[in-house]
Amino acid sequence: MRKSYPLFQSHLDVAHDYWRKLDLAGEVVIDATCGNGRDSLKLAQLALKGFSGELYALDLQADAIENTQKLLRMHLEADQYQRVKFSNGCHSSFPIEIQPQAVKLIVYNLGYLPGGDKKITTSLNTTLKSIQGAMGLLKEGGVICITCYPGHSEGKNEEEQLVKKVSAFNPQEWCCTHQCWLNRRESPSLLVIQKGIKSSAP
Ligand SMILES: C[S@@+](CC[C@H](N)C(=O)[O-])C[C@H]1O[C@@H](n2cnc3c(N)ncnc32)[C@H](O)[C@@H]1O
Repeated sequence: MRKSYPLFQSHLDVAHDYWRKLDLAGEVVIDATCGNGRDSLKLAQLALKGFSGELYALDLQADAIENTQKLLRMHLEADQYQRVKFSNGCHSSFPIEIQPQAVKLIVYNLGYLPGGDKKITTSLNTTLKSIQGAMGLLKEGGVICITCYPGHSEGKNEEEQLVKKVSAFNPQEWCCTHQCWLNRRESPSLLVIQKGIKSSAP
């Protein structure tokens, strides 16, 4: 992409730019689909920089949790690794210790585990339920960042329904964008949702 069209960035680079802009050092962040751990590693490097900050890494599959543990153990300092909490289960419910309105960034990378069983994929109902829960966990200014994969039928439906749902969020409270390629309809797209900061003006 970058060589042929140097103006544009991949969806991943765009997502990472947003994450960096959020100034995540010391924040609580969640990877709701940790898979092979690449997103978790990036989140850990941004959020666990100082002495505080926590990363929750969730996945339905035990293999994914193990892959993520392996990658993070290789790249993080011991004290950073201790601040990663792994949860093997469906993201339609989040670990109960995560406080409401305490999380700065929640990331979803939808679809199936690369190199894993393609039949085990995120599905619309649980994704919607999870996003509903995620909205309650976000602090003001916090963000939900979702990579959609419309290249397979479940992924296309998931993308369409999520875009429809998110488009109806109250603009007084949420700002939502959907970035996609117009002439590459099967390429990943990025859905970004920010919770507004309430002004304290009299
Ligand atoms: C595209 S992969 C994620 C890639 C990962 N973020 C990375 O950087 O390597 C999607 C992951 O979502 C997980 N998944 C699917 N349904 C889920 C659910 N209901 N709850 C939690 N994880 C789920 C799959 O097991 C798979 O590992």
